Amino acid sequence: MDAGVEFAEKMAASGGIFAVPTQLNPASIDLRHPEMMRVPDALLEKSRRLENAYLKMGAMPTWTCAPYQQGLIPSFGEQIAWGESNAIAFVNSVIGARTERYADLTDVCAAITGRVPELGLHVTENRKADTLFVIQDIPEHAFNNPRLFPLLGFVFGELAGDRIAALEGIPEQVSVDNLKAFSAAAASSGAVGLYHMIGVTPEAPDIDTCFPNGKPKDAPVITPEMIDSADARLNQGECAMPDLITLGCPHYSVDEFKLLVHYLGFRKINSGVEFWVFTSRCVYEQIKRLHLLDMIERSGVKVFTDGCALQYPKESWDFSCAMSDSAKYANYCFSQTGLNVILAGARDCVETAVSGQLRRAPLWK
Ligand code: F3S
Repeated sequence: MDAGVEFAEKMAASGGIFAVPTQLNPASIDLRHPEMMRVPDALLEKSRRLENAYLKMGAMPTWTCAPYQQGLIPSFGEQIAWGESNAIAFVNSVIGARTERYADLTDVCAAITGRVPELGLHVTENRKADTLFVIQDIPEHAFNNPRLFPLLGFVFGELAGDRIAALEGIPEQVSVDNLKAFSAAAASSGAVGLYHMIGVTPEAPDIDTCFPNGKPKDAPVITPEMIDSADARLNQGECAMPDLITLGCPHYSVDEFKLLVHYLGFRKINSGVEFWVFTSRCVYEQIKRLHLLDMIERSGVKVFTDGCALQYPKESWDFSCAMSDSAKYANYCFSQTGLNVILAGARDCVETAVSGQLRRAPLWK
């Protein structure tokens, strides 16, 4: 973090101003509710310095890893420079705007100069799929289960690596939140910056457009067994009952909060569990106006803005095991926080938190 603060302050002190509209990725912490997150003073002070430097250069204080679900949403074909892996995969694939996979700080340079190199995913001919994966034997009803999409994305990312791959077999009416979960998982298990879902994403309306020279003869399949294997590998270590449940990786949408309220009803979270949800300031204001926030907070769930689900101040908490609905979170949890993790659906997370006993419904039920 020190290098990032130093870089931002140096840029701001040198008169750096963002030449194009610039949004901010999550801070590591909740800048508006630091006491609720038990943020130590030293970390808060560095975060404030980072905040001040970027605001001085003209950034919008969006602080979100899901910038595509609020405010300044790019349009199809627009050239942009984004620097968060789930957002890059989503905006390239689902919206069809064009960004390379910018590393931290190179995105800042792009914002100051208003320029990017004309290469990679900015260029039409580099956006074609060279591989096809085909979903096979996954029962139709399973696509209604939000648990499927993070796992599907995880398997797809493992297979695709850094290739641009297409996927056949996703129902056309897939929800935006499921595409968000797929993008985040694929970009965490592979270096996926762009994917094409046949009949779903805008650059792949059908197989012929996606593969003008003919459908690849060798199209590996994704099967229920591969999904089960990913599920088993993402549920790491021994964990009888989580003491931290985290949703919002990537940041939760209004629709996801509505579902959360539905799952919670008027019940309260068990006293032995911290239940956290991460979102953007924009979505936070919307759920406040819709009176969803009141209902959620009354149950004992804490809603954080600005921060990253994996970057909370670990030294201020003494958790032993985490649970989440995000495959990206599960993939990075142990390496980032030292906690074993349980991957489940949001409904399972709620039932576990309320009952104080681990609940994890079978995936294919
Ligand atoms: Fe967002 Fe942090 Fe997850 S940046 S996608 S909450 S790892």
